[in-house]
Amino acid sequence: MVKYLAPSFTGGSRFTWGLSFRWDYRVQKMKHTTIDSLRKFEGKEVTLAGWLYQSRASGKIQFLIVRDGTGLCQCVVEQGKVPDELFDQLKHLGQESSLTVTGTIRADQRSVGGCELVLSDAQIICPAEGYPITRKPHGVDFLLKNRHLHLRSQRQWCIGKIRHTVVDAIRRFFNDNGFTLIDTPIFTTIIGEDQQTLFEVDYFGRPLHLTQTGQLYLESAAMSFGKVYCFGPTFRAEKSKTRRHLTEFWMVEPEVAFIDLDGLLELAENLVAFIAAAVLQQNRSQFETLSADIAALERIKPPFYRLTYTQAVEILTGPKTRDFLAQQLKDLQNQKQQLENKIAALEEEQKGQIKQWKRDKNAAELIELNSELDEVHTRIENNPKHAQLASEFQWGKDLGGSDETIISQMHDKPIFVTQYPTQAKAFYMKTDRGNEKVVLNFDLLAPAGFGEIIGGSVREDDYDRLVARIKAQGLNVETYNWYLDLRKYGSVPHGGFGLGVERTIAWLTGEKHIRQCIAFPRMMDKIYI
Ligand code: 4AD
Repeated sequence: MVKYLAPSFTGGSRFTWGLSFRWDYRVQKMKHTTIDSLRKFEGKEVTLAGWLYQSRASGKIQFLIVRDGTGLCQCVVEQGKVPDELFDQLKHLGQESSLTVTGTIRADQRSVGGCELVLSDAQIICPAEGYPITRKPHGVDFLLKNRHLHLRSQRQWCIGKIRHTVVDAIRRFFNDNGFTLIDTPIFTTIIGEDQQTLFEVDYFGRPLHLTQTGQLYLESAAMSFGKVYCFGPTFRAEKSKTRRHLTEFWMVEPEVAFIDLDGLLELAENLVAFIAAAVLQQNRSQFETLSADIAALERIKPPFYRLTYTQAVEILTGPKTRDFLAQQLKDLQNQKQQLENKIAALEEEQKGQIKQWKRDKNAAELIELNSELDEVHTRIENNPKHAQLASEFQWGKDLGGSDETIISQMHDKPIFVTQYPTQAKAFYMKTDRGNEKVVLNFDLLAPAGFGEIIGGSVREDDYDRLVARIKAQGLNVETYNWYLDLRKYGSVPHGGFGLGVERTIAWLTGEKHIRQCIAFPRMMDKIYI
C-alpha cells in the first residue's frame, strides 16, 4: 500500500530557504488593515481600503458594506459623529466607488464577518456612478459580457478563492509526494486524444495543434524522473454546448513509471481527498456563502467506490436503474409543483404595494426560481429518454453523458469506473492481458450527478501492439516515432491520469455550469471578453 503524505496546511505563502516567513504586503506604505484580520482589532481604530459593495441609509444612520478582496465589513455611519459633509457624501456614494474608511472595530455577531466598523473618517478615492451590475436580476449573457466587473460579486469571489485553494492543494500534493513538475508544450506535433477536437494553428506555414493533453510528453519525462506532473491550460475544439465543456480548461496530469491500475486509483483518490480536505479547511465560509453541501464534502475520503465498466453496464440495464429513475421522476414532479407554488406566491406579492428593496429581492428570487424550474422541466423531459438509453445500452459503447450522470446520481461518494472496451478507447491505453477486449483505464465520476472529473489509464508499453493500435485508429505512425522510442529503450509499465480543474470546482461548489469556475471562460459558441 502506497503511503501518500498529507502535508499540514499553513495559511498564507510559505517560502522556505531554510527559514520560513510570511510576507506582509503593504500597498505603497499605506498601512491598511485587511478585513480578514479585523477580529484581532476589536476596540481599536483601523483603516480599511476597498470598494463600496452595498449601502443603505435609515434616517440618521447609514450602513456601508465595504469589500477589500479579503472579505466584507459593515461600516456604521452615524449622523453627528462624522462631519455633515462627509455624511452626505457617503449617502450618495455609488456602488463600487473606491474608498478608505477609518473607525473603531466592535464585535457584532449579526454583522458579516462577526464585527463591524464604527466609522469616524473616510476618503473617497474614485467615485463610481451607474455601476452596471446591481442587486436587480441580470441574465447570464449580461453577466458574462460584464465578466470583468462580475468577478467582484460575492459568488464569483467565493469560487475564485476556492479555485485558488484547489490549485494550491494540487501543487502541494504532487510536490510533497516526490513528483517533478514538467511543463509540457502548448504547440504540439502529435494528436494526444481525439482528432475531432483539435485546434489547428498555422505555425510558420506548418500545421500544428494546441495541446489536448501533456500526457505523451509526460510519458517521456516519467522515464527520466519516475514521477512527474504537468499543470496547465488544455484546448479542445469541443462541439458541445453542455455545462461540462469548455474549449480552454485547466488540467493536472500526473504520470508514473512502474505503476499498475490499482496504484493509479489509489493515487487519484488520495489526490481528490487531499483537495477536498484543503478546501474544507481553508474555504468553509465561502462554501457557506455558496450554500454548498458541506456534509457531502466531508464524505470525500478514501476508499471511493469501484465498479468495472461491465458492472456499470449491468447496473444501467438492470432493475436498480429502472426503479431509481422512476422514483427520480416522481421526486422531480413534486419539486416542479413546489417551485410553481412558490413562483405564483411571489408573483402575487409583486402585484401589491411593497417596498422597493423587497420588490428587487423578489425579482431576483423569481429569476432563480424560474431557472430552477426550467432545469426541473428539462430533467422531467429527459428522464424517460435517459431511462431508455440506459436500458438499451450495449456493451462495447463508451458511456455517454446521461449514463455517467445516472451512475453518479446513484452514489454519494466518487466512483471509479474501470476497464472500458478497447474499441471505445484511445490508442495509448494498455489492454488487459487477461481479457484483450478491455483496457486498463478508469474514469472517476463525481457523485450526485456531476459526472466525470478524471480520465486515466495504464499505457501500452509494448512496441508492436502500440504500432498496431496507432494504425488501427488511422493515425500516422511516422509522427509517433519519438513516442514509440519510449517502448524501444527500457520500456516499463507506467500510467497516469488527467483531472479537470473546472469540473472539480463545479462539483465541490455545487455550481451547475463549469463556465463559472474559471475567471474568463471560453465556450464553443461564446467568448465574451
Ligand atoms: O479524459 P480526458 O480526455 O483524459 C486525457 O486527456 C488524458 N490524456 C489524461 C491523462 O491520462 N494524462 O480528460 C481528462 C479530464 C476529464 O476527466 C475532465 O475532467 C477534463 O479533463 N476535461 C474537460 N474539462 C472541461 N472541458 C472539456 N472540454 C474537457 N475535456 C476534458
